[in-house]
Amino acid sequence: MKGIVLAGGLGSRLDPLTRVTNKHLLPVYNKPMIYYPVEALVNAGIEDILIVTGGRNAGDFLQLLGNGHEFGLKHINYTYQDGEGGIAEALSLAEHFAEGQKICVVLGDNIIEHNISEAINNFRQQERGARLLLKEVSDAQRFGVAEIIDGHIVGIEEKPSDPRSNCAVTGIYMYDNTVFKKIHTLSPSHRGELEITDVNNLYIAEGTLQFSILDGWWTDAGTIESLLRASQLIARTGANNTDS
Ligand code: G1P
Repeated sequence: MKGIVLAGGLGSRLDPLTRVTNKHLLPVYNKPMIYYPVEALVNAGIEDILIVTGGRNAGDFLQLLGNGHEFGLKHINYTYQDGEGGIAEALSLAEHFAEGQKICVVLGDNIIEHNISEAINNFRQQERGARLLLKEVSDAQRFGVAEIIDGHIVGIEEKPSDPRSNCAVTGIYMYDNTVFKKIHTLSPSHRGELEITDVNNLYIAEGTLQFSILDGWWTDAGTIESLLRASQLIARTGANNTDS
């Protein structure tokens, strides 16, 4: 399985912190944000990793991460997203890299406490489709929200004002190689982006979407409040995702 970290976007919810740099280069306690998703993949045994970024600071990622020796890697792959077309558009740039294999995608601003290798192993056994990691939250309106009936996800709504559950879809997605074909069928949403939630709903429609519940804490770091919370969580407990 290959790993992809999505680290583009404008980070406008963090303005002015992101006016002259990329959100994923900002500090979260003692490391740049991008370190955490890379470590989450490496600690789950995924060593073939692509970073998708864009904008004026793309070169800084190469300078920061290099060939990934700090993470025990021999090499890191990079690609460049022109413009701001959304998460699914950024992912479409990984089609060539994936070479038909299954992939695990992590949003560059998602930080987790524990190791995700069990979910990854479950997805390795899964014949086809996709697997999401869900987490119960108290502020579901900020996320993609899964409606679950009889143990199956029956629908996902992106940032609903009246969420049908408190199960947020975290930014860790596992897909088979049909994901790229699915992205090619999408149209931009009202905010002009190709939405990852639309991709996930296509897997629901074909009956191949499975999920795992994420163990330990999870936070994004894309707003001033969540960036602070991420630093506090790391300072308090660390991202112990070397423990399985
Ligand atoms: C994105 C996804 C959303 C998901 C969230 C996780 O939202 O669109 O479905 O729950 O990441 O962090 P964004 O942070 O881009 O608003």
